[in-house]
Amino acid sequence: MNAVEIEEAISALAERPFEADEFPYAFLEAFGNKETTLKRLRKGESNKSDLGGVLQTNNIHIAVCKPGEVTRTLAALKASPATARAKARFVLATDGDLFEAEDLTTDDAPVSCTYADFPNHFGFFLPLAGITTVKQVRESSFDIRATSRLNRLYVELLKDNPEWGTAQRRHDMNHFMARLIFCFFAEDTEIFNGSGAFTSAIETMSAKDSSNTHEVIGELFRAMNTKTTVRAAAGVARWADGFPYVNGGLFSGSTDVPRFSRISRSYLLHIGSLDWKKINPDIFGSMIQAVADDDERGALGMHYTSVPNILKVLNPLFLDDLRQQLEEADDNARMLLNLRKRMSKIRVFDPACGSGNFLVIAYKEMRAIEAEINRRRDEADRRTEIPLTNFRGIELRDFPAEIARLALIIAEYQCDVTYRGQKEALRDFLPLDAQNWITCGNALRLDWLSICPPTGTGVKHHADDLFNTPLNQAQINFENEGGETYICGNPPYLGSQWRNGEQQEDMNRIFAPLTKSYRDLDYVACWFMKATQYSEVVSSKAAFVATKSVCQGIQVAMLWPLVFSRGMHIFFAHRPFHWQNLAKSNAGVTCVIVGISGDLGGERRLFDGDIETRTKNIGPYLIPMSNIIVHKSSGPQNGLPVMDYGNKPSDGGYLILDRAEVDKLVENYPTSKNFIRKYVGAQEFTHSSFRYCLWIEDDQLCEARQIGPVRERLEAVAAVRSNSKGLQSNGNAGTPHRFVYAPHSPGRALLVPSITSSNRDYLPCGFVDDGTVASNKCAVVYQANIWLLAIVASSLHAQWIATVCVRMRNDYSYSNTLGWNTFPVPMLTMKNKADLTRCAEDILLVREAHFPATIADLYDPEIMPDDLRAAHERNDEVLERIYIGRRFKNDTERLEKLFELYTKMSASQGTTKKKAEARA
Ligand SMILES: C[S@@+](CC[C@H](N)C(=O)[O-])C[C@H]1O[C@@H](n2cnc3c(N)ncnc32)[C@H](O)[C@@H]1O
Repeated sequence: MNAVEIEEAISALAERPFEADEFPYAFLEAFGNKETTLKRLRKGESNKSDLGGVLQTNNIHIAVCKPGEVTRTLAALKASPATARAKARFVLATDGDLFEAEDLTTDDAPVSCTYADFPNHFGFFLPLAGITTVKQVRESSFDIRATSRLNRLYVELLKDNPEWGTAQRRHDMNHFMARLIFCFFAEDTEIFNGSGAFTSAIETMSAKDSSNTHEVIGELFRAMNTKTTVRAAAGVARWADGFPYVNGGLFSGSTDVPRFSRISRSYLLHIGSLDWKKINPDIFGSMIQAVADDDERGALGMHYTSVPNILKVLNPLFLDDLRQQLEEADDNARMLLNLRKRMSKIRVFDPACGSGNFLVIAYKEMRAIEAEINRRRDEADRRTEIPLTNFRGIELRDFPAEIARLALIIAEYQCDVTYRGQKEALRDFLPLDAQNWITCGNALRLDWLSICPPTGTGVKHHADDLFNTPLNQAQINFENEGGETYICGNPPYLGSQWRNGEQQEDMNRIFAPLTKSYRDLDYVACWFMKATQYSEVVSSKAAFVATKSVCQGIQVAMLWPLVFSRGMHIFFAHRPFHWQNLAKSNAGVTCVIVGISGDLGGERRLFDGDIETRTKNIGPYLIPMSNIIVHKSSGPQNGLPVMDYGNKPSDGGYLILDRAEVDKLVENYPTSKNFIRKYVGAQEFTHSSFRYCLWIEDDQLCEARQIGPVRERLEAVAAVRSNSKGLQSNGNAGTPHRFVYAPHSPGRALLVPSITSSNRDYLPCGFVDDGTVASNKCAVVYQANIWLLAIVASSLHAQWIATVCVRMRNDYSYSNTLGWNTFPVPMLTMKNKADLTRCAEDILLVREAHFPATIADLYDPEIMPDDLRAAHERNDEVLERIYIGRRFKNDTERLEKLFELYTKMSASQGTTKKKAEARA
């Protein structure tokens, strides 16, 4: 269950008559406990309570008590030995009238409220459902509640008005919802005369059977779209006349309203009774946007981007600079004035703005700075000089685009109330400004210059405008002559296999004129490219959240040369970090933030978690280094032995056997065992298992063909290969006894699975003897020295592979050409090799000691045995001393050194190659 569903369940529970015996189970059920769990608690099997209540281990001790006994019962629950024994996190007591609870693991204030009010504290108990980002949820409790209510209303209205859910009417539906949200906010913040005026007008004027609810709401909307001076002439109903003229595009156009049922009417009235003052426009928009999205409704509001994450983009992009200027200005009136003027000309543009959270936060942060300026200049109630029209966005989907503008309007009003007071805020608020700031359309097809033009130029909109603003509306001049432009956002990430035709076409349009190789680029790369092209015309800086794959592996060579060659550089970056959301599974992604600019001055800021480093340059792998890019190399540049791939069968499965097949074959044809070897791929290696394969040398072929089942298998292989369209397969149809690629050699082979989970701290690798054939799912060094394992199994090598090789979902793809041949290794002395040999042997011995644990078990970071970790630590110590005479401080330092060595290595390779070419 997600937080919204839990909130709904808790609210439903509070609305039902209180049943003392049932309450603890119903409460636990609302937090997602399964029927079987509850059954065991009811039977007492898992109920550990010593006070006649319900005690769920590690979770909660609940007791229902007699009237007036709540506080005493809560104290008893806290003091109960059973609570401590079961490590219960929460205690909860209620008599159906009062409700008290405490989280025993935090210093948070206990909950004490009426029973009816406890759903307002649902965020407090979310750890019961395994949702741990509770602080964010608590801060956004109202937004979750409102989202859940609006969702119920939306779904109910679509049930009664199915045509409003069709493509033609979706926009009307979304527009209607945006109007409603505005009205709920306005009636609770005195924008409308009288608190609750909108909801109560509907309640009073519409019939209980809901038959005319749509007409009443339609009339209210009409009033808000009609100037008060012409209302009488327009025949606006007297009861609607008390509402102000709002318009701003929000109430223009059709005042059509969907029809209401009794249920949807009651939902509407219930939503109106919430306290909309508490709405937080940073969060609410992102939460609510899923309401209108059939695919996303399941994860309602759970994927929103948290404010701290948004600030990771906005602070280094420009806010830190503004704050620094504020600090430097101190109380100097002129300097403060200059800063205020500067801010009035700043444009913030989010070309994938969703419901506008980046824009809202940028706006609010700038207002906070401006308020401080005004305070220092004794002009506290001065009207803001930061125009909302300077906050612009493009959003593909209709509803988030509607909400984005609404969120900005609400943010402006809230800032006015905070910094200038309610009276001033109200005076300037209505009617709303009808200018259009958010364009609904495809940012990759729109000309950004037309939406965010060079300063001093008007704006032409090339897409559907919001709130029915006609397409040919007057152009809007940004109020930023000579100002700055900052582009920001969190555009979508999509690997090549996930893009639809239209998205692929977006990529073709952007990249095909620039380069041949772009198919493996992530979709998000388009935004970096568009921002780069934009900055060639308009001096600007841009920063986007992106999947870390654009700064890793082959994508680096595809994207960044295109950006750098147009005069841009990375001026700040956040190294990979986990981008969390509120979903219970918290299946967040690993992201980076990259800021690009054409302004070459100043130091660059590189963030790794909370640590900030100032550096001269940030390379495309987000390391303090030059803009060097690692390219594939056909042979080792580092003096290490050749790493090949394993053996490729291309056999339709006929050369591969399982244990039962081998047993049967050998039993019937004992000589067949001469042609059978163990066969290991990446899966088998990590799970310490193996299969078998037919391995027939040319001079054994006659003998092998005497064995009926072997002959049949070879014929089947020949047929598969003959029918194959692959050149390699087809070309080997005449030699079905051989693998199509067969580098297998005598002696010991070092084996590295080509795909390996990125969760592991070390790359799994190991040796097999020549009785085992490695499959092409492994990279292999044949006839390998033992010390090579010390290199492959090191943290240094793991970091290199993680950085320069391709990443597929949660796995690394080990590449010999990109990862092994390029890995910089200092010249190794005999002593170094002897030391590394000992380290490798230690690792192998410790693994042996844990037999039968598999590689997958041993290298699971959660349960990796201490002695194995220690053996790897010793290995790292020895290897890292060879590099720099001590351990590296962290992975960033490791990578810095590796890139430094790589730069030297490839420069000297280049020189050697040039000399060889000259000699030739
Ligand atoms: C990851 S969301 C970020 C939105 C918002 N900033 C947030 O944090 O919730 C990406 C947004 O880009 C929008 N989008 C996707 N493709 C787009 C395109 N080609 N043009 C404009 N917007 C697009 C999506 O609809 C979505 O709202």
